[in-house]
Amino acid sequence: MKLLSVGLCAAAAVVALSAVGLHAETAASPTPAQIVKARQASLEMSAITYASLKQGAASGDVSKLGFPANALASWAAALPSLFPAGTAQGTAGLDTKAKAEIWSNRAGFEARAADYAAATAKLADLAKANDAAGFTAQLAVVKKSCDSCHSDFKAH
Ligand code: HEC
Repeated sequence: MKLLSVGLCAAAAVVALSAVGLHAETAASPTPAQIVKARQASLEMSAITYASLKQGAASGDVSKLGFPANALASWAAALPSLFPAGTAQGTAGLDTKAKAEIWSNRAGFEARAADYAAATAKLADLAKANDAAGFTAQLAVVKKSCDSCHSDFKAH
């Protein structure tokens, strides 16, 4: 009898835990449309950050640009996770320019994202070192990494 009640208790605990698990999963999972909005917002903010870095570098003092450069690098590192399966252009209900090649050539897409992440991380390092000339040159490298991904993976 004791064994049986322990067993029942354990079964009840499993049911309770899986209910919590299911609930947590539902609450934490954004819909494909929400993911598309979030990634587009992140890319708009990245474009704004890039423009402000360019403007800031023109002053010749890049020592205060570490924080925004680092923010750009953080978004760069997160970029691939904002493109899960099921969020391509042509999916009903989604307004996106993400080409199907992002998924059919995932390794190519991730390589572009990795180039971008490395280029922005270096930008943050150059700001910390207050290397204005290096920073300005690196801005061009970053811009090239944006453009080369767009030319293959973003519809126009
Ligand atoms: C690894 C690929 C990749 C890199 C690197 C990349 N982008 Fe994009 N970008 C995309 C894709 C794909 C889209 C289309 C997203 C969508 O519509 O869902 C996009 C969309 C955008 C948009 C439009 C967002 C909107 O509101 O629809 C802007 C602006 C943008 N990118 C700017 C940039 C800038 C600036 C950089 C570099 C600092 C950059 N991107 C780097 C792939 C990339």
